[in-house]
Formats: sequence, C-alpha cells, structure tokens
Amino acid sequence: MKIALVTGANRGIGMEICRQLAQQDDVKVVATSRDVAKGQAAVKQLESEGLKVGYHQLDVTDPVSIEQCVRAVADEHGRIDILVNNAGIFPDKDAASSWPSVFDADVETMIRGMRTNVYGPMMLIQQVVPMMRKNKYGRIVNLSSGMGQLTHMNGGCPSYRLSKTSLNALTRILADELSGTNILVNTMCPGWVKTEMGGPGATRELPEGADTAIFLATLPDGGPSGQFYRDRQPFAW
Ligand SMILES: NC(=O)c1ccc[n+]([C@@H]2O[C@H](COP(=O)([O-])OP(=O)(O)OC[C@H]3O[C@@H](n4cnc5c(N)ncnc54)[C@H](OP(=O)(O)O)[C@@H]3O)[C@@H](O)[C@H]2O)c1
Repeated sequence: MKIALVTGANRGIGMEICRQLAQQDDVKVVATSRDVAKGQAAVKQLESEGLKVGYHQLDVTDPVSIEQCVRAVADEHGRIDILVNNAGIFPDKDAASSWPSVFDADVETMIRGMRTNVYGPMMLIQQVVPMMRKNKYGRIVNLSSGMGQLTHMNGGCPSYRLSKTSLNALTRILADELSGTNILVNTMCPGWVKTEMGGPGATRELPEGADTAIFLATLPDGGPSGQFYRDRQPFAW
C-alpha cells in the first residue's frame, strides 16, 4: 500500500482528492485538516461512502503541527509515499474590493498568503522528503492555479497570484534538487471549481477539479517532474 497525505482535506478539492485516492486499490489515505472536528466530519462522510481513510490534525502554517503530523503518520505507517499540498487560501478576498489592485495591496495580507500557500508546502516537503528518499519513492503534487501563470499574468488579486507563482517556482527548485531520485514533484491547476473558494459560479464540479491531482499522485516511475499540469496535460508556466 502507498501512504498518501492530503492537506486541507476537510472540504472542497482536498476532500475530493481523498475520495478519489481512497478508491485506488493500493493507496491508503491520511486526510488532514487544521480543525479537528471539521476533518473528522469529512472522514466520517467518506467512511459512510465505504471508503477507509485515516486522519491527523495538520495546520500547514504551524511547524509544530507539521512535525507532529509527519511523525505520527511515520510511526503508524512507516512511510509517506504521496504528498498532496492542497490546503490554500485566497487572501485577497478579505480586501475591500472583490478584485483588489496591487496599488491597494497590503503586505501583511501577502505574507499570510505566502505562509499558507508556499511556506506551508515547503515545510511539509522538508519533513517528508527524507522518508521518500529512504524508500526511493515519492510523488508530490502542489495545487497551484492559472492565476499563478506568468504567460497570462493579469492585474488584480496580487496576494493570491504571487503565492501561486511562487509555488510553481518552488516546484521547479524541488524537481531540480530531486532529479535522479524516484521522487516526482509537479504542480497543477484544477480549473475553476465549485468550492467555497471557487464560488457557485465556477464551471467545474469537484471530480473534474481533483482528477489531475490523482493522475500526478499516481505517476509511474520515470514519469514527469518539475512540470505544470491542467487536465492531465502540460500547461504553460
Ligand atoms: N476552487 C478553485 O476554483 C481553485 C482554482 C485554482 C486553484 N485552487 C486551489 O485548490 C486548492 C483547494 O481549493 P478549494 O477550492 O478546495 O478551496 P476551499 O474550499 O477554500 O478549501 C481550502 C482548504 O484549505 C484549508 N486550509 C486553509 N488554510 C489552512 C491551513 N493553514 N492549514 C491546513 N489547511 C488549511 C481549508 O481549511 P478550513 O476549512 O479550516 O479553512 C480548506 O480545507 C487551493 O490550494 C486553491 O488555491 C482552487
């Protein structure tokens, strides 16, 4: 069995990724969330659908929480093979305007976005990769966004945009430092998905939003690394 750890699994795309990974015959999922009650409710829901899913608390902005979670999963399962960095925030939503300008940007808001969307995944990867190296196997999936694309970078929502572009850069840095290992690290855009973050006007349902994460989490040995994907296809940076 491969052990998969998913962040921000109590709702939205993260919960759907847990659902689809748990449906794979050879994957055991550990769902995580910063709020224990919300995370356990999601696990209960998945169990009511006939799926077997473990659980641990994890706030990606808290180094102590990260260390405790990784240690607990390692103690119980001896390994983490798949890491899905799904947890994320859209910090610009707290601004006065619904589409805030860079000229009104507040640095504290930007730092908050970076903490959750970039430094959280990085700290978690730092803790998990030594285990992956030892087991000579790892698949890391970072949930980015088309709003982090440089090719089509536009104005508005600078905190979210900068955090996702940075997450893409982190993916490239990691892939280079992990080249020659069997640890594949990729980043992806789920499309515009109906979740709390995406809102009701979004064009995609959850299964479609989670699909590329499943593809990247289960890549065969020798698969791509350091790439940006959408709909299971390479996506322009
Ligand atoms: N929906 C879209 O259209 C869309 C498009 C492009 C990219 N994405 C990306 O896809 C990912 C999932 O998005 P979503 O639409 O499912 O968002 P969502 O419905 O807002 O869910 C976000 C999840 O992240 C969790 N989270 C936030 N801060 C956290 C922290 N410090 N530690 C642990 N968990 C934390 C939330 O937990 P709480 O319930 O405790 O807040 C929640 O479970 C995000 O990275 C997002 O940027 C989404």
